[in-house]
Amino acid sequence: MILVVVLVIIGALVVLAVVDVVQTKHPVRRNYPLIGRLRYMLEEIGPELRQYIVTGNDEERPFSRDQRRWVYASSNNENQYFGFGTDSKMDEPQYLIIRHAAFPFSPPSDANSPAVGDENYLPCAKILGEFRGRRKAFRPQSVVNISAMSFGALSGVAVEALNRGARLAGCLHNTGEGGVSRHHQHGGDLIFQLGTGYFGARNPDGTFCLDKAAALVASTPAVKAIEIKLSQGAKPGLGGRLPSAKVTEEIAEARGVPVGVTVVSPPSHTAFNSVTTMIDFVEDLAVVTGLPVGIKSAVGDRHFWHELAHEMASTGRGPDFITIDGGEGGTGAAPLAFTDHVSLPYRMGMSEVFSTFARHGIHDRVVWIGAGRLGFPAESLLAMALGADMIYVAREAMMAVGCIQAQKCHTGRCPTGVTTHSKWLTRGLDPTDKAVRAGNYIMSLRHEMLMLSHACGKPHPTLVGGEAIDLLLEGETSVSLWDHFRYDKAWWEPTNRRAESLIDTMYQPGTPSA
Ligand SMILES: Cc1cc2nc3c(=O)[nH]c(=O)nc-3n(C[C@H](O)[C@H](O)[C@H](O)COP(=O)(O)O)c2cc1C
Ligand code: SF4
Repeated sequence: MILVVVLVIIGALVVLAVVDVVQTKHPVRRNYPLIGRLRYMLEEIGPELRQYIVTGNDEERPFSRDQRRWVYASSNNENQYFGFGTDSKMDEPQYLIIRHAAFPFSPPSDANSPAVGDENYLPCAKILGEFRGRRKAFRPQSVVNISAMSFGALSGVAVEALNRGARLAGCLHNTGEGGVSRHHQHGGDLIFQLGTGYFGARNPDGTFCLDKAAALVASTPAVKAIEIKLSQGAKPGLGGRLPSAKVTEEIAEARGVPVGVTVVSPPSHTAFNSVTTMIDFVEDLAVVTGLPVGIKSAVGDRHFWHELAHEMASTGRGPDFITIDGGEGGTGAAPLAFTDHVSLPYRMGMSEVFSTFARHGIHDRVVWIGAGRLGFPAESLLAMALGADMIYVAREAMMAVGCIQAQKCHTGRCPTGVTTHSKWLTRGLDPTDKAVRAGNYIMSLRHEMLMLSHACGKPHPTLVGGEAIDLLLEGETSVSLWDHFRYDKAWWEPTNRRAESLIDTMYQPGTPSA
């Protein structure tokens, strides 16, 4: 009798294990049959357990449980509502409060325009490359886009899921500095990133090759813009080294380097070494490819930004877009001292650089992109009120395709297959299923950004502005975002004019809905 019971239990476990291995929805269960189920069971009883032990919903970093839950629910198109009211500490300094309008905006219901009937339609208020008349200037159709993460840092299936997700959400997908791989070519539009290794556009000695960059752009129509990476928030001023064992055939092909030979990315660019030569580099790339060209940087040395703004104001030349990456940004791997202490967080960095450009009167000539834990509705609204025209999401998009914030990205043993090249671990990540989740997450974020702007009485988040956002200070006082960062309301006039003309095309005249 006991033997029969034991056999039945073993049989049931085998069946469950087979179901885990065969199903494609949950990478953790697929990679760790049976054991993976424990995670879901613990998640289920987690709220009850946490009432007595461990952390609160808002305590974990870099992303709190509430934030992760919001990403997971959005990506699964599940109920994103939270019951009972907030559990945030609404009296903590720097806490963000949005001042809603007495009369919210109601989109017209009978207009014959792209925005009506599409609750996620949220294009950029500016045209990328317009100011400098780039041949292939265009209006990005999504203010939320996928930030740079290379094939190499991410698995091929994760890159594929993100690219397919970008196509579904109609947003741009940044390749990261590791070049354009075959995983990037599943229908999503690309921003081709060039770091100091110039992968995909380099000579055998590692220097930049303009002809190769032009050839890559010509043969890859999905590439819509180029981003030159000066630095990233999590590890500014650091180069990189990809050991020979990791330079597989696929990685070598994407990067344009020999298989099995260690690749070094120096800390600094070899194609330019000053603001003037950097601008020459930008202009050469833009002229040859016709594409808008931008730079990405974390914010450290102030002098660089003053010089860049001065040079751009006096010559009319320079990058079409500037990505400001906050020091809170992510990475595959970096020394703790760099992730924790080098470069300003987004709010400080963006406000410092944007103010510098505004004082030179040229902030409106640039499309600004913000990054650094901004992939949530209220944070992205704040990012835009500080000047961003668009935001980038990296780790939030990783969570949408399965990342559970296990923070083992640097070990090569990511349990969800997102940042590993282990065949066993990546087989759990189904790129077509996860593409839908990435797309859903991005569309949900746009949708909630729109909901917040409507609550503030504005049809587009660009128009909300920092007077509608308060930061709490000590002692139950608050300050408006623009006062806190000493912004001048007049800086917003050109941007508002631009956004208003976009709104005319988003919502053609119609009867306001009830
Ligand atoms: C795994 C990983 C790889 C990354 N690789 C790059 C890269 O190749 N180039 C780059 O500019 N930034 C890279 N980043 C930084 C992100 O693009 C982004 O700027 C940063 O994580 C902030 O966005 P987030 O807070 O939404 O993650 C990487 C980040 C992660 C997590
Ligand atoms: S190791 Fe952890 S944090 Fe990194 S991608 Fe995988 S699940 Fe996410």
